[in-house]
Amino acid sequence: MKVISGRLDRAFELHQKEYEDKAIEVLRSGWYILGKEVSSFEEEFAAHNNIEYCVGVASGLDALALAIRALGIGEGDEVLVQANTYIASVMGITMNRATPVFVEANKYYNISVEDLESKITPKTKAIMVVHLYGQACKMDVVMEVAKKHGLYVVEDCAQSHDACYNGKKTGTFGDIGCFSFYPTKNLGAFGDAGAILTSNKELRDKIAMLRNYGSKVKYHFEEVGLNSRLDELQAGLLRVRLRYLEAMAKERERIADYYTKNIKNDKIIKPELQEGATSVWHQYVVRTDERDRFEEYLKENEIITTIHYPIPPHLSKAYEYLNLKEGSFPMTEKYAKEMLSLPIYNGMTDEEVKYVVEVINKY
Ligand SMILES: Cc1ncc(COP(=O)(O)O)c(C=O)c1O
Repeated sequence: MKVISGRLDRAFELHQKEYEDKAIEVLRSGWYILGKEVSSFEEEFAAHNNIEYCVGVASGLDALALAIRALGIGEGDEVLVQANTYIASVMGITMNRATPVFVEANKYYNISVEDLESKITPKTKAIMVVHLYGQACKMDVVMEVAKKHGLYVVEDCAQSHDACYNGKKTGTFGDIGCFSFYPTKNLGAFGDAGAILTSNKELRDKIAMLRNYGSKVKYHFEEVGLNSRLDELQAGLLRVRLRYLEAMAKERERIADYYTKNIKNDKIIKPELQEGATSVWHQYVVRTDERDRFEEYLKENEIITTIHYPIPPHLSKAYEYLNLKEGSFPMTEKYAKEMLSLPIYNGMTDEEVKYVVEVINKY
């Protein structure tokens, strides 16, 4: 049996007719940019998250970069960001010429709140948390530290649609929540797409202006903006998928629970949840100090896995200029060497899940 992580065809097939009908409806409408699908999705996604405003943008990276820009953060400013993340979190900061200041990861692979305060300097303007792999960060402490030091909070929710901390959804704690709808995400589009959430009308208006060439009124340009609009087709398809997001999260949870209960191999470390946090299991990440051998073994048994992520941002060539050497963030670097994401996707069959467990237990 072949099991491939990140399969997208299965989730499409679950509601194929509705996606096809919506696509045809949008194509026939003759209106493709900033129309009723985008405004309806924005209203529905904001309501889904119990927050006032959503602005659709072209990608998760744009959501992050626009959030940092709308907060007025730029050259000479520092933003605290967890070291263990996808590089887009960091690029959202550096695209605005601000400096990322990395914070070590904890045993839940999220930002270590114990290390937060020691990283704050007079230049620090914001904390960017990343609810990595679908698990919420420890937001009570993050918000307390931010309040004490007068810092903004930006949440990277690319992997955490609907994950909660103490019953409140990620993306609604800080000043701005940034979402990616990249096809593999829990709420995935059929191409690139993203959005921000905020309860602040000024920030909402600013980001809506910046995503559309810096204009509020057609051909009146107030700032040098971007073309970063969520398009009508993606917005329409996201509206269909949003109706199933909760059911899809339950399905992922069932797979994750099965893995957690049934994987029994001393060599394999399974993920844990921190108190107060839920995970929507964007990834089910295990660890072993013989990761490459384990990955190869799974491949020999036709189980294709992924590594999220093999090179931490601070050791990437793109950030050589920050001069952070190997050894700067030991936990993050250890995770990059040991982690492996097991297959978990909507439409994964019970046989596939059982097969993965059987193969792992024989390792
Ligand atoms: C944690 C994280 N942040 C940001 C992004 C960027 O999203 P996008 O690919 O839509 O630009 C991604 C996904 O790619 C991500 O996983």
